[in-house]
Amino acid sequence: MRVGVLTGGGDCPGLNAAIRAVVRKCEVGYGDEVVGYRDGWRGLVEADRVPLDVASCRGLLPRGGTVLGTSRTNPYKVEGGEKKVLATLQEDGIDALVAIGGEDTLGVAARLAETGVQVVGIPKTIDNDLSGTDFTIGFDTAVEIAADAIDRLHTTAESHDRVIVCEVMGRHAGWIATYAGIAGGAAAILVPEEPFDIDAVCDYLRRRHSKGRFASIVVAAEGALPAEGTISVASPEIDQFGHPRLGGIGNTVAEEIEQRTGMESRVTILGHVQRGGTPSAFDRVLATRFGTAAVDAAHEGAFGQMVALHGPRVERVPISEAVSTLKTLDKDLIRSVAEVFFG
Ligand code: F6P
Repeated sequence: MRVGVLTGGGDCPGLNAAIRAVVRKCEVGYGDEVVGYRDGWRGLVEADRVPLDVASCRGLLPRGGTVLGTSRTNPYKVEGGEKKVLATLQEDGIDALVAIGGEDTLGVAARLAETGVQVVGIPKTIDNDLSGTDFTIGFDTAVEIAADAIDRLHTTAESHDRVIVCEVMGRHAGWIATYAGIAGGAAAILVPEEPFDIDAVCDYLRRRHSKGRFASIVVAAEGALPAEGTISVASPEIDQFGHPRLGGIGNTVAEEIEQRTGMESRVTILGHVQRGGTPSAFDRVLATRFGTAAVDAAHEGAFGQMVALHGPRVERVPISEAVSTLKTLDKDLIRSVAEVFFG
């Protein structure tokens, strides 16, 4: 078999581990040849490829980013994009394509699968907002980074008796904010799924700080939304997949807290730090399991499927199902914790 592989969308730790697993499983397990496409779907649109083998993947397991590069190119937004993708696949004699991506990259994979492209998906995104899988590659590392940052913010907030707002990624879902906020003992967690009332946040902070010196860390997902009619936020830029380029709600929240409560407030926006550096052990294992399972799926002819984590098992779900709705926060998770720790 000739297998193509690409990484698309925002990068994350664990992509290289997944590429390595695909290549090793192909070469050692099945005697396949592997072609890597550069910068996600751009590589297929522009026939920009590189041969991959076990030797060229040495040292990739702990390396952050993606050696194939990535982009947010959407072939359906490029003139003749789909035709170009099909032509490259044919020219390269690709029997199976492994697309490693989030909802956008896999959304394209689902459309191509409908036209007969033999594609298998691997779920990745630090946001963990892809349906059909318990976890996506990159999420665990991002949570570790954010929780470590919150721990560090605690000690400086304590010294100065301040409120620090820590803005984390997550434009449509508050998974990182919730996991990191719980792990880091945040005073409040603001997520896109539940518009927040700044007055309620301020009341809670006042109550906490009235009991003496206190350090309060407020974790805000970048997509956190103020409840209607409370505070206004500027409209963001929109990318090729129609997503807003966010970042900055943390500043607004910190300013409002300082103004309304008089408590000295600061903001830290973690941004792309959450996507950089070496993957956690969990993400390395997940990426390795997904990579090998995707190659098995290709050899079993399970095209149009995405490998997915369900409890302890790696199983398969239709890519079209995984991208049909975003996996937003499990509200029971936040409610059960909120009852005891917040408010
Ligand atoms: O999709 C993952 C993600 O990290 C989001 O959390 C974030 O909003 C976005 O990517 C940032 O994208 P970019 O790196 O293109 O600015």
